[in-house]
Parts: sequence; structure tokens; C-alpha cells
Amino acid sequence: MSAMPQPTHAVGPYDLPPLRFGYGDLAPVIDEATLRHHHLVVHKAYVDAVNATLTRRPEFLGKTIETLLRGLKDLPDDIRADVREQGGGHADHQFFWKILSPPAERRPAGPLAAAIDATFGSFEAFKARFEAAALAHEGQGWAFLSILPKSGFTLKILTLPDNGSVLSQPEPSPGLIICDLWDHASAPFGGRAAWLRAYWSLVDWDYIGERFTGVHEGRSHL
Ligand SMILES: [Fe+2]
Repeated sequence: MSAMPQPTHAVGPYDLPPLRFGYGDLAPVIDEATLRHHHLVVHKAYVDAVNATLTRRPEFLGKTIETLLRGLKDLPDDIRADVREQGGGHADHQFFWKILSPPAERRPAGPLAAAIDATFGSFEAFKARFEAAALAHEGQGWAFLSILPKSGFTLKILTLPDNGSVLSQPEPSPGLIICDLWDHASAPFGGRAAWLRAYWSLVDWDYIGERFTGVHEGRSHL
């Protein structure tokens, strides 16, 4: 297992961030060819597209994608929609890869587990609520467990359409977990319900516990 993923502070033009695991390491849940395509083709297309968008407004190339998404409403009209969609696709995938790791039986521990239990009743109840929200989401999008530092570190499940970002919400969230609800993610499983059941075995709760602690300590974990 490679090192803990670090916060990303790269400014544009953005690079496709490397994965912290090998392309075959998520098998048999996600096979190597599927992961290669998702990272090297789908994610890379968003990186290329947002970089192309920012060439129209090069003054924004010096910002991280997280900064642009946090300030989305203040961006010029001629790039806002493209940054939301293409930049959001880049940032959401970047976040998604960070929370995945080779298949294993894992569950939250420590303060994160306590917060999940306090908010949702139990880890099992949380997973059921998350899956229900993801299944109820219509169309392409992403599901999140977000954390709201300015609202008492409240945990909140939400889904966003297309390439929406938790960073662009009225109260931006660092996000704790994210799940890709696009058809390109669920199709290899035969549908979203089967993908969601398989997803849990890839979620790296050790890393998410670190994110949780980092948010509480005021460190950036974006
Ligand atoms: Fe995706």
C-alpha cells in the first residue's frame, strides 16, 4: 500500500493526478481495464477540458481547482458552467481516487465511528441511508458524506447532479467520502445497486478517519 494521499494544492494547468494504488489493485471489484479507462480516459478528459476552458481566462490558471469550485459563483459568466462541469469532474474524480484502496473488510474507527453512530445510529444504518440516497438520485451525479465545520461538524449525506462539488455548496464541505454515480462507474456492475454494494469494500476508512481528524483540527484535506 502506498502512502496516505496528500492534500492537493496543484494550480492549473492541471495534471492527471496519479493513483496511489496500481491499476490491478482494486480487482476483483474493479478490474484493471475498467480502472485504466476510468482514470486515463474519463478523468483525463475532464482535466484536459477544464485546462482548455481556463485558456480563455488565463488569470484563473494560477488557482487550485478547489479554489475555483469554492468561488464558482464569482467566476466570469463565460467560464462558470464549464468550470462547474469539467473542473467538477476533475475534482470529484480526484477525491474519489483518494478514498479508495484495495478490497478489504473495513469499517470506521475512533472519533469518526463515534460521529457516524451519533448521527445515523450505526455504521450499518449509515450505509443504508447512503445507498438509499444514491439510488434515489436521478441521472448522473455523485453521492457524498460531507462534513460541515461551521455547523458543528455536522455529517450530512447528499447527492449532486452531474459533476457538482461539495466545495460549491452554500456551506462548502471538505467531504469525507464520495461515490461515483455516473453510468460509466455502475455499468460494469450491471447497475447502481450492485455497484453501491461493491463500493463499500473499496472505501479506505483509515484515510477517511484522517480526513475527519484533519477537518476537526482545521487542516485542509481537500
Ligand atoms: Fe467517473
